[in-house]
Amino acid sequence: MIDVLVVGAGFGRDFVPLYALHPEVHRVGLVEPDARRRETVSAELGVDAEHSSLDEALAGGLWDAVHLLSPVRFHVEQTLQVLASGRSCASAVPMATTLDDIARVIDAASASAGRYMMMETALYQREYLHALHLRETGALGRLTYLSGAHMQDLDGFAPYWMGYAPMEYATHIVAPLLGIAGVTARCVRCLGSGALQDSHRGANGNLFPLESALFTLSGREPLVAQVTVSFFENARSYTEGFNVYGERGALEWPSIEGGPVVMHAAGPSDGAAHGRPITRAEISPPDRYGTMPEALRPHTRRHLYRPPDGRPAVQLHAWHGGSHPHLVHEFVSAVAHGRPPSIDSRRAATITAPGVVAHLSALRGGAELSIPQY
Ligand SMILES: NC(=O)c1ccc[n+]([C@@H]2O[C@H](COP(=O)([O-])OP(=O)(O)OC[C@H]3O[C@@H](n4cnc5c(N)ncnc54)[C@H](O)[C@@H]3O)[C@@H](O)[C@H]2O)c1
Repeated sequence: MIDVLVVGAGFGRDFVPLYALHPEVHRVGLVEPDARRRETVSAELGVDAEHSSLDEALAGGLWDAVHLLSPVRFHVEQTLQVLASGRSCASAVPMATTLDDIARVIDAASASAGRYMMMETALYQREYLHALHLRETGALGRLTYLSGAHMQDLDGFAPYWMGYAPMEYATHIVAPLLGIAGVTARCVRCLGSGALQDSHRGANGNLFPLESALFTLSGREPLVAQVTVSFFENARSYTEGFNVYGERGALEWPSIEGGPVVMHAAGPSDGAAHGRPITRAEISPPDRYGTMPEALRPHTRRHLYRPPDGRPAVQLHAWHGGSHPHLVHEFVSAVAHGRPPSIDSRRAATITAPGVVAHLSALRGGAELSIPQY
């Protein structure tokens, strides 16, 4: 049994119940500097301890593992602090936004008695697990091309998102594309598109509302992935998904988030002069639970959570393709059983660095740049 500390009560609120339900978790604590937010979430969900800072929580000597869901600019220093204390650390994406900081996290994870995991939701959403199944069963055949886009309108979000470089948040698309192809990204050419309005610029220095990158992948045959991320000035409803095209089959992300995935399958040539017969079907990928404990399984879908001590039931939304209980189970079982998590520091770096380098390419007008291999 382990004790887990959740840091940040925004997105973190979704994870508190999942840790509380996990049979290998004993106590769940919450760190949140905003007193009103902290009190609201702990009154609603019930937690075993509340702290206003990570320093205060770690000084108490408790907690085996910490899950960081603080704003991006705190991820690296808080990860280093947790790992240096000998505890295990899960971090919301991205792991870091510079190559130097990626290297610092890898070094800290190697030196620590604790484990590191990046909590990449895209690697446990049901659509991704289905695409892996299609690849493994041969339904896609040899891959020809991959693409994906994360488009989200951050107007009105916290000021720290203003001017955020889109490619420094590309992991939700890069991760599934590399995972499906079973490769790494070797080099990139990226361009910025559009001109960020003054009101969206903030202190981050980025001038592009949208960035689009072409990655050369590492397989034996030439293979390309195109990744597009936009945060401002793009009237597209939220999408965060991928497409994969193979010689025998293709899978396309739904045009409306949560809708059915489109599968295309090529039959054998029938002798006609106009290409192979290709069928199109809309499918709803199933949940694949693996070793996930029974108590977590209903939470891959929208489901009521019944907090302890008779508090009223709370609706949990299961965003991101039902990935949250998978991530919690993977992190908890890796820590409890002393094994590396599926998204350890080197895999996290392999997923994070391509976007970091892509933004550098965009700043240099689309120059081709090599991506470090981890
Ligand atoms: N699909 C995904 O993986 C996904 C989705 C949403 C958010 N995220 C990531 O999760 C993190 C949190 O996102 P959010 O939407 O909740 O952001 P948010 O800004 O709404 O909330 C962050 C919370 O952290 C608290 N906080 C601020 N400084 C802190 C500090 N130094 N230590 C501890 N807590 C601190 C804030 O008071 C706030 O309650 C971000 O890094 C974001 O990128 C990932």
